[in-house]
Parts: sequence; structure tokens; C-alpha cells
Amino acid sequence: MKVLVTGGCGYIGAHTIVDLINNGFDVVSVDSNIRSTTQLLDGIEKITGKKVRNYKVDLCNLEDTHAVFHENRDIVGVIHFAALKTVPESVADPLLYFHNNLTSLINVLKCVKEFNVPNLVFSSSCSVYGNTTALPVVEETPIGEAQSPYARTKQMGEQIIEDYSRVNNTQSIILRYFNPVGAHSSGLIGELPLGKPDNLVPVITQTAIGKIPKMTVFGSDYDTRDGSCVRDYIHVTDIANAHTKALQYLINHNNASNCEIFNLGTGNGVTVLEAIKAFEKISGVKLNYTMGPRRPGDVISIYANNSRAKEKLGWIPQISIEDSMRTAWQWEVSLRDKVLSN
Ligand code: NAD
Ligand code: WQD
Repeated sequence: MKVLVTGGCGYIGAHTIVDLINNGFDVVSVDSNIRSTTQLLDGIEKITGKKVRNYKVDLCNLEDTHAVFHENRDIVGVIHFAALKTVPESVADPLLYFHNNLTSLINVLKCVKEFNVPNLVFSSSCSVYGNTTALPVVEETPIGEAQSPYARTKQMGEQIIEDYSRVNNTQSIILRYFNPVGAHSSGLIGELPLGKPDNLVPVITQTAIGKIPKMTVFGSDYDTRDGSCVRDYIHVTDIANAHTKALQYLINHNNASNCEIFNLGTGNGVTVLEAIKAFEKISGVKLNYTMGPRRPGDVISIYANNSRAKEKLGWIPQISIEDSMRTAWQWEVSLRDKVLSN
């Protein structure tokens, strides 16, 4: 069975392709490489022994997107990862985000409709919940005020898919990721942040390796157990496996309605200082950090209730925060070794 993965050259897309191949699926990817290179495809080939074809196509171009679907009429589903995801960039340039993330989604849906693709899985984010205080977050927790244009594109994307699925013959799943972290245990694929990273784990590993001289913990006076923010850090291979399970669930017609939503988190809240401690423990590196002011727009605490994904998809997150840090660190070291050997 063949699956079309959009954004397959990116962080979560690449890990998902590995999981799909390991579960017997054939995969084609569509990625314009606006935020990636084809480097992770080489890693996928080394891990799985399979060469994955990527169509270098901007999904905002309907004609080119249509041509990819036309050439791959035999797909059983689409997993739509392709999007821009940098929160501060979306604040600075909202139109870029609305144009890219929504036009690409609408074009994918137009093709899904025309070519009668039966199953669709969409990458959403816990950022759709906004600044909620109802914890842990369940899928019914009301959608809050979006804290950024990026988050708004995910809220709108969800609504577009819900409306689309209601009137068309497509079964859809929306997956709301919490904080994806870590890398594949092989050390052959991982996150490749372009420029200076904003997310905590790449900031930690880049500080430890010396790319960033000193990192700042944003906020020490929050009403949490140690004063720093709480998040639900979920390993990227656990996230990846949920996509395979979601697709199998749809293919087997286990879904209760045309469009279902699942939280993907571990269910455990971890503070920034606990994440740093976990990193120091597994790496043996003392991190150079300082306590700083709060970062504007940060929610204090958010973590998932993941019961629905466990019960319905049979998905069980396997990887601890320590092992997440271990794989993230292994990946950072492998990137450095690659540079040194060139
Ligand atoms: P990523 O940037 O590593 O991968 C996204 C890929 O999509 C990139 O390779 C990029 O080149 C491609 N892309 C973007 N716009 C495109 C377009 N118009 N046409 C073709 N390709 C395009 O990001 P990721 O971390 O792998 O995220 C994947 C998805 O998961 C995104 O939708 C993101 O919003 C969502 N998500 C990510 C996180 C996270 O923290 N990483 C959390 C929640 C949700
Ligand atoms: C985590 C914690 C920071 C960097 C973002 C998006 C969200 C989703 C996941 C896509 C926070 C603290 C960070 C640093 C720090 N992405 N931190 N020093 O903000 O929870 O979520 O990524 O959908 O939409 O908003 O993740 O990794 O940036 O921050 O103290 O140098 O680490 O304040 O408490 P966040 P993050």
C-alpha cells in the first residue's frame, strides 16, 4: 500500500516515513525543501534500505500538486506534514503563514477529492488550545485564543478538514502534537533547525556542543514546582508511530466518524529545569545556562491527556525524557562529527 507524505524531508515527516516503511508501506514524498534539504532522505535509505522518491513541488502550486497525485493514483492515503512552523516568524509575517499553510492544505484537499483518496492524516499542534488552564488537556478542551498566526493556521486547518470531511467521502484524522523532541536511535535522522533554533531541546544540545555560548531559561517565577514552564516532551519516533497507527485505523474502518482528533503527548508535564537536568544526567555535560525573564506568549503549563489515542489507536508512547535527550544529543554529536570529517 502506497502513502503520499507531504513534508517528507522534514523532521517529523522523515521519522514517519521510516515507521511507515518498517510497517510495510511504500512511500512517496512531496517537499519543496523550503525548510529542508534532501539530507534526511539519505538517512531514511540507510535505515530502511529503501530509496524514497521526493517530488520537489510547492504544494501552493495546484498544477504541480495535481501532477503528483495524477502520477500516484494508487495511494491509500495522504499524511500532510508540509507547513511552516516557526512561531516568531509567523508573528513577524502572518501572510506568509496563512498563504503557505492554508493554500497548501486546500490544494492537497482538492487533489484528495478529485482522485478519491480515502484517508487523510493532518499534523496539528497543542498550540490550538491557546492559553488553557484546564489540565491535562483533553481533545474536548475548548479551542482557545491562538497565541500566534502559526497557531491560527492550525486552528483554521482543522476547521477546513472537519468541514471538508463532513461533505466528502474522505476519512480524516487530526493529530495534535505536544512538544516533539529527540531523534532516531540510529543517529541517522533528526531535527535540522535552520539558523538559530527557538525550541528548547535543540537550544540545549547546541549549547552543550558549543554552537550557542550560553542559553537562557525563560522565566523562573511561574507558579510551577520549580518556577519554570511545564511542557509535554514527546519523542519523535513515538509521534511517527502514531501516524502509522492512525492510517491503519482508517484503512481498517475503525473510525467512529469522518474526522477524529487525537492528542499526542506522553501525559507527563516536565519543567524546563527538569529537562535540563535530564540532559545533564545522560550527557555528563554541565550546561551553561542562566535564568532570564519570561518569553512573551509562553503558556505556563500544558500537557496532554492521551487516553483517546491509547484506547482507540492502540498507541503507547515508549520513550522517556532521558532517552529523548540521549537521542537528541547523539544526533547533535553526529552532526558535529560529520562537519569535522568533511
Ligand atoms: P519541518 O520544517 O522539519 O518539516 C516541514 C516540511 O514541510 C519542510 O521540509 C518544508 O520544506 C516542507 N514544506 C513547507 N511548506 C511547503 C510547501 N508549501 N510545499 C511543499 N513542502 C513544504 O517541520 P516538522 O517539525 O517536521 O513539522 C511537521 C508538521 O508538524 C508541520 O505541519 C508542523 O506545523 C507540525 N508540528 C510540528 C511541531 C514541532 O514542534 N516540530 C509541533 C506541532 C506540530
Ligand atoms: C519549551 C519551553 C520555553 C527555549 C512551540 C510552539 C508550538 C509547538 C511546539 C508547533 C518553554 C522554554 C525554550 C529556550 C527556554 N510547535 N525555553 N529557553 O513554546 O512549548 O512550543 O513548539 O506546533 O506551537 O509554540 O516550545 O521548545 O520553544 O519551548 O527556557 O532557549 O522551553 O520558554 O517554556 P513551545 P519551545
